[in-house]
Parts: sequence; structure tokens; C-alpha cells
Amino acid sequence: MKRKILVTGGLPYANGSIHLGHLVEYIQADIWTRFQKMRGNDCLYLCGSDCHGTPIMLRAEKEGMTPEELVTRIHREQAIDFEDFLIEFDNYYLTHSEENKELSEMIYQRLRAKGDIKEKTIEQAFDPEKNIFLPDRYVKGTCPRCGAKDQYGDSCEACGATYSTDELIDPVSVLSGVTPIKKKSKHFFFQLTRYSDALKKWIRSEHLQEEVANKMDEWFAQGLQDWDITRDAPYFGFEIPGVPGKYFYVWLDAPIGYLASLKNLCHQRSDLDFDDYWAKGSDAELFHFIGKDIVYFHTLFWPAILMSANLRTPTAVYVHGFLTVNGQKMSKSRGTFINARTYLNHLQPEYLRYYFASKLTPRTEDIDLNFEDFRLKINSDLVGKVVNIASRCAGFINKKFDNELAAVLEDRSLLEEFAKAGDSIADYYEHREFSQAIRSIMELADKANQYIAQEKPWVLIKEEGQENQVHQICSLGINLFRILMIYLKPVLPELASKVEAFLKVPALGWEDRYQVLLSHTIDVFQPLMTRVEESSIQAIIEDSKQ
Ligand code: 2FM
Ligand code: ZN
Repeated sequence: MKRKILVTGGLPYANGSIHLGHLVEYIQADIWTRFQKMRGNDCLYLCGSDCHGTPIMLRAEKEGMTPEELVTRIHREQAIDFEDFLIEFDNYYLTHSEENKELSEMIYQRLRAKGDIKEKTIEQAFDPEKNIFLPDRYVKGTCPRCGAKDQYGDSCEACGATYSTDELIDPVSVLSGVTPIKKKSKHFFFQLTRYSDALKKWIRSEHLQEEVANKMDEWFAQGLQDWDITRDAPYFGFEIPGVPGKYFYVWLDAPIGYLASLKNLCHQRSDLDFDDYWAKGSDAELFHFIGKDIVYFHTLFWPAILMSANLRTPTAVYVHGFLTVNGQKMSKSRGTFINARTYLNHLQPEYLRYYFASKLTPRTEDIDLNFEDFRLKINSDLVGKVVNIASRCAGFINKKFDNELAAVLEDRSLLEEFAKAGDSIADYYEHREFSQAIRSIMELADKANQYIAQEKPWVLIKEEGQENQVHQICSLGINLFRILMIYLKPVLPELASKVEAFLKVPALGWEDRYQVLLSHTIDVFQPLMTRVEESSIQAIIEDSKQ
């Protein structure tokens, strides 16, 4: 049966460039969605820029433009970076949009109607010079626990303590350098506590990763707290209807951006129905791919908000770890904080897609990009194994057999083995065991290479009366190569489309693995992929240091 699936990637903030750390998630979800599409499922992959909040407002001010101008510019840049990494969103929208405003207001009204919003006056740090309430990150001072200087208002990087901004010794505003004062204002709180039981039930009925479920148990044990969903002017966001000077906190309207992205797509495509996906009782599956830093928002606040608003809840939230480079945190000074564009200036996107795939698991552990390993893996797996099969066989088909594959294949055992392996490889993709999928595919590639090496068509061709045998070997080799490309297509879509052109076949789907190309004319072989050079990697690192 055809599944109806909605996949989202976390919405990146519209105040900076996409970097390799971001790409782990978008590539992971892209591979998964492309796989689902190849299987014949209806699958939508949605994303967009997260536009609101204090940092974006302040950055626009610094650059001498309006926040709208800033987010429009960054949104465009992000969209191009994603496209160039072959990340194929069905829609890449923005949270600063009419659709998102309407949906946020609608959801807010529903929370109110349910009685889930409580008003409370709170006291917060305020910068009297800039006339603005200060988020924790905008206050710095001396750690109340260990005495380390220049620590943020919520936690100390020296000793790891967390505390409230009140406790910070000698606090100063990062914006003006003056001492913050305390100021009162009225805020709206979403009563998360009312949803404790419902959330516990939701967790049990869903397929959360074990680590995530454990983390949530810890949070439940500590007790949930009501959630402040308002911010005071000046703020870049949606003003709360009927409450001038108060705005929705960015984290309220950000996930609603998932809905807005679909709403906007529905405006473009008449075959899609918004309620099919978001109404309570919807039979569509909904998956959020996110990083481990924003689990709290997606497994507590978000499902509770959806419940309160009488909408469907996610089928699962898939959490991945962070990216390290050469075993360490990405660092500007080491040149390992690498922007998507810097990478693309020197290397093909598919190398990174393949490398990430070869490392990705369904667990939340960090993944490491080790550049030496990266170079060796691409050169040995993709260039040395996969593409090599085609280049070893195609030349003979092109030159000796007038581009035509054999009419029958006498020994089909390898073909059957390759096609059969598609079941377990599909299982691996489905369960986000990409590293296992890649391992299986490479084992098959090894088998194909061993077969060709053993048969030695380049020797046979020189012998009398062996032409037919060479035709058999190379036609089988091309057919094996074709099956491998089916399996690699979610990871390497551009290579797959070059191969489709070379084989003169329509877009390959997962079920095509059982077909065999016989008496079929292929194109003249062109080099499909080049090696990764050490110098390209050095250039990326150099450029990232600037
Ligand atoms: O952490 C972040 O980068 C947020 N911009 C992610 C938002 S995800 C969703 F909720 F919009
Ligand atoms: Zn400290």
C-alpha cells in the first residue's frame, strides 16, 4: 500500500549560512525521503527558514537593514545552498509569512479556548540604555559557582553550572555594557503541566529512540514547567492579536512553520490537501528530523501544543548527533567550521552525501568527518569500486558490440543475488541504518569486481572465439552496476541520473532491480566521477580560516 508521509528538517535560523554541521540532518532526511519516493510512496519533504527572534533583529540592525530584508536575503542563500547539495525539498518556505501568521494565531486562539494559557507577571533583566529585555545569552558576568569571568547569563562554560541570570555576579548587558535592571512585565504561559500524562502516553505509543525516551523520563522525573510563549517589544516576530507590544516567542511559531510550509505548498499544488496531513486522525505519517539540541521543543512543547490545538501529533521525532571534524568540535581557527558554499567551491556535493551516509545510524551519537578517511573512502568505494565496474565493462560493449548488450544472460545467479539484496538494503534505509545499507552495497560492488577480475574480459578478447563470452561478462557487469545504482540513488541522485542517461533508461525505481537489460543499446561511456584530491581538502580548510 502506498504510504502518505510528511518529513521535515529543522528550520535553520535566517541569520547565518548553512554549514556542514547543518547538512548532516538535511542530507539524512533527504536520503530517507528520496528512498521513500523511489519505493513509490507519497512523500513530502518540507523545510524553511526560521526568521524570528532577538538575534535576527539585532543582526539586521547591525547590518543597517530591516529584519524582513535580512531574512529574505538569507532565505534565498540557504535555498541555493540546499539545492546545490541536491537536497530536494518539496518546499523551502519561511516562518515570516502570511500562512505562518494565520496558523500561529489560529493555534494560539485554540490554546486560549482550551484554557491552556495562563498570564503571569514576571521580572526580567532589562537593558535601560537599549530599552530592551535581555535574553539570558545577552547578559554576561562572573559565574556564581566557580568565579569564572565573562560567562553567559544561564550557564558557565568553565564549570558547567546552570543558574538563573539573577545569580550572576557583576552582570552586564552584552548590547550596551551597562548593568541590567530588573523590570516587570506580563507574560503568557502555555500550561505544559496539563499535558504530562498525555505526553507520557504519546511517548509510549511512538517509536522514539531509546536515548530520547530515557532523556524524557528524566524530564518527567524533574517535573514539567509551564512555558513562556511571549516576548516584549522590540522583537521581530508576530504581534499577538489584541495585545499590542507583545509577540509570540520565536519557538512558538517556528514549528508551526512546518504547517505553514505545507499550507504554502497547497497553494501551489491542487493535488494536496492540508487537512489530510494535519487534522486529528490523519492517516499520513509525520516525521521530524532534528538535532539533539532541540529535543525538548519537539518532544514536549510541540506535541503538547498540537494536542491542545486539536491537531495530529508526530509519528516520530528522529534525532541525530552533532558533527565533529577530525575528531574535534568544528573550529573557525582550525578551518574546520566549513560553510556549505566553501565546500561546494572545491568538491562535489555527492562525496559528502556518500560519506555522511556511510556514517549515519539511527542513534543520536555524534558523527565525525575525518578528512583523510573521507578522501580514501570516496576514492576507494565510489571511484575504485562502483564506477569502476561500468568503466571496465562499457568500453567493450561500446567498441566491440556496437553499444548493445547481450540478448540473453546465461548465468543469472549474481543478478538474482543482487536483486534479492534489495530487500534488506531497503530495510536498512527504512530504519535509517544508512551505514549498514552502504556496507551491504559495497559488499555487492566487491562481488561484481571480483567476478570481472576473475573472468578477465581484457584477456579473453584477445583469444580466438571468446567474443561471446566477453559479451556475456560485460553485459552482466553493466546489469549488476545498474542494480547498484538503484541502491545508491537516494544518496547519489546526480550520479544516478548520469547513469540513467548512459544506460538510456528512464528514472530508476526500487522495483526496477528485478529487470534485466537485454539486447539494449547503451550510450558511449563517459567518466562518471573523479577522485578527491588532497589539495581540494586543503583549499577548503584554508578558505574556512579566512
Ligand atoms: O535550533 C534551531 O536552529 C531552530 N531554528 C530550529 C527550529 S526547528 C522548528 F521548530 F522550526
Ligand atoms: Zn562556573
